Amino acid sequence: MKKKVNIAIAGFGNIGSYFYKTLEKNNYHISVKTGRIPFVRYISAKNLNKKRLIKIPKSKWIKNPLDLPLRKEIDVIVELIGGSEGIAKKLVFSALRNKKHVITANKALIAKHGDQLATLAEQNKVNLEYEASVGGGMPIIRSIKEGLIANKINKVYGILNGTTNFILSSMQNSNKNFYDVLNDAKKLGFAESNPISDLNGNDSAAKIRILSSIAFNITISKDNILTEGIQNINLTDILYTKKFGYKIKLLSISEIKKNKLIERVHPCLIKSNSILSNIDGVLNAVVIEGSPVGKTILQGEGAGPGPTTSAIISDLCSVLRGNIKYPFGISSKSRKKIVKFDIKKHISSSYLRIDVKDIPGVLSSITNIFAKNKISIKNLLQNPDKKNKKATIIIITHKSLEKNYINLFSNLTKNKFVLKKPTFIRIEEV
Ligand SMILES: NC(=O)c1ccc[n+]([C@@H]2O[C@H](COP(=O)([O-])OP(=O)(O)OC[C@H]3O[C@@H](n4cnc5c(N)ncnc54)[C@H](OP(=O)(O)O)[C@@H]3O)[C@@H](O)[C@H]2O)c1
Repeated sequence: MKKKVNIAIAGFGNIGSYFYKTLEKNNYHISVKTGRIPFVRYISAKNLNKKRLIKIPKSKWIKNPLDLPLRKEIDVIVELIGGSEGIAKKLVFSALRNKKHVITANKALIAKHGDQLATLAEQNKVNLEYEASVGGGMPIIRSIKEGLIANKINKVYGILNGTTNFILSSMQNSNKNFYDVLNDAKKLGFAESNPISDLNGNDSAAKIRILSSIAFNITISKDNILTEGIQNINLTDILYTKKFGYKIKLLSISEIKKNKLIERVHPCLIKSNSILSNIDGVLNAVVIEGSPVGKTILQGEGAGPGPTTSAIISDLCSVLRGNIKYPFGISSKSRKKIVKFDIKKHISSSYLRIDVKDIPGVLSSITNIFAKNKISIKNLLQNPDKKNKKATIIIITHKSLEKNYINLFSNLTKNKFVLKKPTFIRIEEV
């Protein structure tokens, strides 16, 4: 006789309702694969009077999600509310303390409180699963923890945000400007009504922190990491970089350099023929470099109810199959803190777009600033706009230190010929 496992779903929005529907449909297959029968005993949401597309028996609704961990009959709590603080945080902490297995899709919560939550889960001998928090349709967390367990990983990088990848690749393919493409993304459901944490890189930063902690067996980094979004990239940049054989992608990169951790999220110019440059639309992709495996790439849809539910059900099956696993692959005690690499020592070449007044002496003034900051120019292109008495200078540099770029940027911004903040994008060899 298969054992019934009682589940409570907290949060019944986009993801919660789709997960419920899929679980009801696939219940038999899941029970065959795991030897357990998953049964959704309770559901909780904010507004119980809201009209919902799925009919739920009244007996399943629980007004206050914080009551769920106190119910003896509940085995697993699936948190699909969201946010790193407030009710989601209280619920997950209380669930683990009350010895309930927890499954969550909440990257903000895991990136901020994952270390504490993992310790609590281990102390209470329950599972904390969070595959859906990073790139739902590409099972990256379980791949690193299990499939790639043999490896010493030294670098993890890729495209971790579908909204920004959709925007950049649509600009590239349709020659539309940033705001038109952002509106298209909202209409198609690929961008939230307030997409700020996608656009400014914070969503990707939370995800890369989670991945580096699993890949390198370290605690989640708490320091500020270099995080730049795509808000300042316009169609001009897309078109110029194309001429030089590049595409612009928002990459999340984490690696160990000289035994120190460097994590960064920023737009990058990557060669048009590189693996990641052809990952378009809402797709995500991650490359893992390790030994003995070499280079492994995972690709899939990063968000949306389907891919996210796929990851949540994978977590559920892991719980149903039994065995308590360390949430970050190894015990909390064994996870090390690691020193941060000084970002100013990072070396890259770069692309700059500088809008200047179109008068004699400008070009030499600009190139002098580069020379003064020990940055040598590889390619330079000047495009005059006689009618408006201005010109655009495009520069591709040779490799230089981040420290030099910081000074260059500050000097350029103060220069009397420069009309507005230049655009600066690092070139990444991936
Ligand atoms: N959407 C995606 O593509 C995606 C992808 C990966 C991960 N995630 C993560 O999945 C989680 C859920 O996302 P979502 O898109 O489903 O969000 P959503 O559509 O906004 O749903 C949130 C749900 O939480 C409920 N809720 C909000 N405040 C609550 C409270 N105080 N008490 C009880 N319930 C409360 C809401 O109740 P009402 O229904 O009554 O409003 C709603 O059912 C988030 O952590 C998100 O980061 C989402």
